[in-house]
Amino acid sequence: MTVSTPFQINPDVCAAQTPPAAFYQSAQIYQQLLQKAFVPAWQVLGSTDLLPSSGAVMPVTLLPGSLDEALLLTCDNHHQHHCLSNVCTHRGAIICEKALKCEELRCPYHSRRFHLDGRMRFAPGFAEARDFPTTDCDLPALPLQLNGPLLWTSLCADTDLEQWLQPVMARVGWLPLTQFQFSAAHSRDYVFAGNWMLYVENYLDSLHIPFVHPGLNQALDFSRYSTELFANGSLQLAIAADDEAAFAVPVGAPDHGLRVAAWYFWLFPNLMLNFYPWGLSLNIVEPRGVAQTRVRFMSFIWREELLQAGAGAALHTVEMEDEAMVLSVTRGMRSRLYRRGRYAPVHEAACHHFHQLLLHCLAAD
Ligand code: FES
Ligand SMILES: [Fe+2]
Repeated sequence: MTVSTPFQINPDVCAAQTPPAAFYQSAQIYQQLLQKAFVPAWQVLGSTDLLPSSGAVMPVTLLPGSLDEALLLTCDNHHQHHCLSNVCTHRGAIICEKALKCEELRCPYHSRRFHLDGRMRFAPGFAEARDFPTTDCDLPALPLQLNGPLLWTSLCADTDLEQWLQPVMARVGWLPLTQFQFSAAHSRDYVFAGNWMLYVENYLDSLHIPFVHPGLNQALDFSRYSTELFANGSLQLAIAADDEAAFAVPVGAPDHGLRVAAWYFWLFPNLMLNFYPWGLSLNIVEPRGVAQTRVRFMSFIWREELLQAGAGAALHTVEMEDEAMVLSVTRGMRSRLYRRGRYAPVHEAACHHFHQLLLHCLAAD
């Protein structure tokens, strides 16, 4: 498939066809989506535990294996945090390879020095250079924002983070997110030979739950499972089965009166925020190629005693069940006989929304 021959997705989910198989195998579309869907989005760098103390720096990579953007978290002597490019403004060497305490940054290649806020301080060998230095010599800075236990940045977001997260906070803003603690022991990465879009659309499809996740299905009242769409994502609202763990949603919150088992938020293109009675499971989907994906599962625990209860009790089992289907479909997309499918209108509305957002990005200049 080439982008000069795009397919269409009918805006009416009841009539629409899913993308053709070639969509998931095109290296050109893969690259275009990295630029057009991932670069403008807000991304989670990690937990706020990554933030360095005063006079220290911490290198981080934004979406390793795809965007691979080398960044540096710093904290200057005024206790101000910064998210800077970790690429030297001279010839492009990586400035800092590991966390350290330091008064200033020094590039290992030709010893250009920078303040911890990114301003260039000194450049050996440039005495004869004209119109030097300029602000182009300073390290570019990205926004660095906190939301509860999460650290966010974006390479070129055209909305602010508050607006990006508004649909999430409108529903679960009552949760004491600053009390949620990152737990490395309950977090892990999954790497598999599947396409990232197939992983996302599997997440967005509720039709498979009774068939693929018998354990999870028992924790839910699937007849009351619902999906809501918003501009940059979707919410799947799962109601608990009788006697299964549920949130006590306070008076005044939009879902008060419901026995919520989970809010499954997806933010375009690659973030999932799953709120369970025990806390938050954040899933960051990281493309690694047309048929290779890493998904980071990060757990932020609020009520540890509920870790084994309800919809969020068996995340590894559910992930294994999902990965098996994503691998199956990745293989199916290579078939010479499969063309396009149709959407189950109620249960796959969020998949339809995802595909429309992808096409919208591809069509943008
Ligand atoms: S590349 Fe950093 S000083 Fe030359
Ligand atoms: Fe699933």
